[in-house]
Amino acid sequence: MVFVIEGMQWGDEGKGKITDFIAQKMDIVVRHQGGNNAGHTLVIDNKKFALSCLPSGIVSKNITNVIANGCVINLDKLIEEINTLKEQGYTNLKLLISNKAHIIMPYHIDLDGAYEALLSNNKIGTTKKGIGPCYIDKAARRGIRIGDLLNKDYLKERLTSALTIKNLELKMLNKKPYDFQPLFDKLCYFGEILKPYITDTSLYLNNAINNKKNILFEGAQGSMLCLDHGTYPYVTSSSPLANSVPLNAGIPLKSIDKVVGILKAYTTRVGEGPFVSELHDETADLIREKGHEYGTVTKRPRRVGYLDLVVAKHTHRLSNVNYISLMLIDVLTGVNPLKICIGYELDGETIDFIPSTIEEISRCKPIYKEFEPWKEDISKIRNYNDLPLNCKKYISFIEEYLNTKVAFISVGADRKDTIIKEDIFKND
Ligand code: GDP
Ligand code: IMO
Ligand code: MG
Repeated sequence: MVFVIEGMQWGDEGKGKITDFIAQKMDIVVRHQGGNNAGHTLVIDNKKFALSCLPSGIVSKNITNVIANGCVINLDKLIEEINTLKEQGYTNLKLLISNKAHIIMPYHIDLDGAYEALLSNNKIGTTKKGIGPCYIDKAARRGIRIGDLLNKDYLKERLTSALTIKNLELKMLNKKPYDFQPLFDKLCYFGEILKPYITDTSLYLNNAINNKKNILFEGAQGSMLCLDHGTYPYVTSSSPLANSVPLNAGIPLKSIDKVVGILKAYTTRVGEGPFVSELHDETADLIREKGHEYGTVTKRPRRVGYLDLVVAKHTHRLSNVNYISLMLIDVLTGVNPLKICIGYELDGETIDFIPSTIEEISRCKPIYKEFEPWKEDISKIRNYNDLPLNCKKYISFIEEYLNTKVAFISVGADRKDTIIKEDIFKND
């Protein structure tokens, strides 16, 4: 069966953890968009892995991991991640990289920083990893693709064209331009190292689908950071929605069987942009500390708020989530008052959708439903029925509001800290 993991909020919902968990039943795990702006954390028997470039199935034996065409890749970081895993004994990585994925060049990183500095008060709050500038070049048809590394003459042509434009831009922004030769030599060196992994992953995945393999597509970021349907312009430069998987991986629409929406039991956001249920009080501090809500990539403290089901409904409307995986609910133990945002008030009216402009979203006031808190430590619980009644009521409300079953309840960072409530493999 073919599954898609989709973050339902602003990222950092626990996608890495649940991808690794579901991966135990998969043959193939695929990252389909984003780059090393993502930080996906896996914990297996107390051993922590922080992944930015590699798919979250990478530490599981026998699983082939694919970086698909929709991704943008920082080659230094990718090789660093591969080497770190090798040092930890993961020497036999089963990895495939799409020849159509785009390369994040050093000038993309410079430009990301320069644009943010220019915008100052209106900055996006990007991770400054060069993601936006790399996708800009992809759309402008002057990007350099992974496959180009394997043909030196063509690579020379591509890099020459790219530098003609990029160096002008860098000079305009008072940034140092790049010399052709050192960049070219480095790309050739990367090509030699990565050659064994580079292939047409669309062909590979289509064959795998025809051969009835179990495949999991792992999104980075979350739906509210979608370039089209998120809180534009405070978004990333790709689409984390399940809807984008066919294009980002080169597979047919009909091949996707189930979408699993990853929902944190509260809400967090890194970077700028509107956040209706944001808290600025001691409840926010409590959740931030208990949930270790500091960015994996940039170490920035994450903004924290109550669970916003208007946001989750927005995701659901866009991509029709079949199941929910409810994450980090252990963090809510002892949180009092405990609330869920169930609607917005905008200009005196109650709405249950995300308005299209950030100006309107910024004027929305949260409408809350209050829940009875629970005090018990739930991190050791493995059966749904053993959860405190108030915790079960919180979960049931989410299911009712979204009219969708919660399949997994995550009560800790470790792979084993997971309650299975529904069988995602069953045919509905
Ligand atoms: P991702 O970007 O969606 O993969 O999420 P991150 O890895 O950036 O952030 C999630 C954080 O929560 C990581 O530190 C995880 O180890 C941790 N985590 C994941 N699931 C749980 C959970 O159920 N409970 C707790 N306490 N931590 C969790
Ligand atoms: P994972 O996969 C949370 C945010 C940045 C910024 C905006 C644009 O770990 O959930 P970018 O560098 O992409 O141009 O930044 O998007 N952002 C994330 N926030 N989790 C992520 O990834 C993110 N990736 C990007 O903070 O607000
Ligand atoms: Mg993250």
